[in-house]
Amino acid sequence: MKFFIDTANLDEIKQAADWGILDGVTTNPTLVARENVAFKERIIEICDVVAPGPVSAEVVSVEAEEMIEEARELRSWAENIAVKIPLIPDGIKATRALSEEGIACNVTLCFSANQALLAAKAGAAYISPFVGRLDDVGADGMSVVEDIVQIYDNYAFDTEIIVASIRHPIHVLQAALLGAHIATVPFDSLEKLFKHPLTDIGLKGFLADWEKLQKQLADA
Ligand code: G3P
Repeated sequence: MKFFIDTANLDEIKQAADWGILDGVTTNPTLVARENVAFKERIIEICDVVAPGPVSAEVVSVEAEEMIEEARELRSWAENIAVKIPLIPDGIKATRALSEEGIACNVTLCFSANQALLAAKAGAAYISPFVGRLDDVGADGMSVVEDIVQIYDNYAFDTEIIVASIRHPIHVLQAALLGAHIATVPFDSLEKLFKHPLTDIGLKGFLADWEKLQKQLADA
């Protein structure tokens, strides 16, 4: 299973890369706006940090021809850019054209298995079902992921499933149990994956006993 980080914050990306567990980055217009920095410069900086891992940068056009032009421009910034395209009819049309040009598309704003089927049919490299936003409206986000895993397996689609809109570590666990290819995780949830109180208690005990032994040996 691959871990992407869902952020445009460079410090968070560098920290995750430093841990040695980072395979890629996803951004969206909201995440970039939160950083209050120039889009192009930030995306290029991120691409440098995670290369050759993919970095998703999103188009803001809603018409196919404009999306295609925007995607080509984004892709000219770095080899490892995957273009994020919204799951609307024009987005699917653009995904087909861009995929045939060899530009990796991450089809985003996916909330149903049928939408994911359309993205795979169009040749998307990635599909991003938003589990947290589905849970927020009382639906079961992970059951959508389960259906997508089944459908992609039935037909051997190459499209990789990025479980997105992750809110907490249980989402990561469920994504892994379902066999999703990728989880894109916000930094705070990524940090929480490390944590267990018994690890902290155990480490404290080991280090205290080691110190005690050194003291005993020095005193002997
Ligand atoms: O990057 C797309 C997705 O992960 C957004 O998450 O938390 O805004 O629902 P969220």
